[in-house]
Amino acid sequence: MSSHLPDGTRLAYGTATAAYQVEGSTTADGRGPSIWDTFTARPGTIKDHSDGSVACASYLRLDDDLELLAGLGVDFYRFSVAWPRVQPTGSGAVEPRGLAYYDRLVDGLLARGVQPMATLYHWDLPQPLEDAGGWPERATAERFADYAAVVHDHLGDRVQVWATHNEPWCAAYLGHAAGVHAPGKREPEAAHRAAHHLLLGHGLAAARLHEAGADTVGIVLNLTPVWPERPEAAEAADGVDAIHNRVWLGPLVDGAYDERLRALAAPLDDSEVVRDGDLALVQGSADWLGVNYYTPARVDVGGDDTGSGAVGQDTSAYPGVTDLRFAPRGSRTAMGWEVEPRGLEELLVDVHRRTDLPLVVTENGAAYDDSARAEDGSVDDPDRIAYLQDHLAAVELARSAGADVRAYVAWTLLDNFEWAEGYTKKFGLVEIDPDDQHRTPKASYRWYAERLHDATARTS
Ligand code: FCB
Repeated sequence: MSSHLPDGTRLAYGTATAAYQVEGSTTADGRGPSIWDTFTARPGTIKDHSDGSVACASYLRLDDDLELLAGLGVDFYRFSVAWPRVQPTGSGAVEPRGLAYYDRLVDGLLARGVQPMATLYHWDLPQPLEDAGGWPERATAERFADYAAVVHDHLGDRVQVWATHNEPWCAAYLGHAAGVHAPGKREPEAAHRAAHHLLLGHGLAAARLHEAGADTVGIVLNLTPVWPERPEAAEAADGVDAIHNRVWLGPLVDGAYDERLRALAAPLDDSEVVRDGDLALVQGSADWLGVNYYTPARVDVGGDDTGSGAVGQDTSAYPGVTDLRFAPRGSRTAMGWEVEPRGLEELLVDVHRRTDLPLVVTENGAAYDDSARAEDGSVDDPDRIAYLQDHLAAVELARSAGADVRAYVAWTLLDNFEWAEGYTKKFGLVEIDPDDQHRTPKASYRWYAERLHDATARTS
């Protein structure tokens, strides 16, 4: 099948953001409320009590972002479209002013020679759909496909590379089982139902986009290598692999949820939830796969689960996997995430073997405290540079081992609203002044720009 991904002769490069994390202006131009507006307003949900209402003000400072992207020389910019800007109530009426923002963004990218890579859902479900039951309800998947078709009808003449969902694992399990992401539920059954409907939404949306002529429709998963610490941890590790990785790859590749997963997750074994034809629709529906990677999952059992200190490695997000602990080792980022580039290499080789799909590393990067300053006052972030450099080397190793990795996308262009961590965790290549959203490139920005310049010079 033809594809608008880069052909892989050399690794292509990009950087990413997501709408709620950077745009701000959450009530401007008819945008409706999303579950993240509601969740952040609830006391105790966000570490610094913040929200995305201002964020990086990218809605207002779009030209600044475009200039930063041009300065980096990236091949791609991965951004997400905010559903509540396009359809303020999640269905029906379309808000032209919301779409106009993405017109300006896409046109601005193309004018600078940067390819847009659009993600349709990066967690900002319109609140009225949540009020009607949210992702645990099947109707949400249908509304998502309608919304996807609206966005594609509007931007499809200029955007060729599409992703339906970003990290549906977080939306389902951090949102509905661990309760640390919107909508903040702790109902494991609802989490499994949400997982199925997110996948179904992907399948329905991909079908609509394909019918409309798109040929590069993917899904972005935060797959993880799962490493048992010792033989006794093998079963728990298998459970984590089931709920984290196989819940998506099973339907996408084999058109099935496997036996262990169905044993852990009753709704995935329920024909009222997983209806005839759902899995067949999902199977083979992705033309490419996005892999987000930050850290491996080292799994252990026994002893007290006092928490590994790693954000998101939360045992309650794996309902039914008993006696589970996460055991990260060695050097860690500010998220508490172990730094282990070999995890990325292994993951890419395995996922390519498992799916035979072209891959894009759609997110990879690191949060550090960024306290060191250069003489001009800008952030001097050698740890972030080392992280990116070592993970890029891992991607090249995976490519040499046969993994069909087409592009690498650094998370993230700007320090931004890091979900439950608020603004306390900084992943950006560019620092944002919290008072006026002024942008100052860090050393890592200059390093990445140079690396991209060298890579493109070598092949042109
Ligand atoms: C991923 C999210 C992204 C960002 C990074 C650090 O889980 O997709 O929005 O928050 O983690």
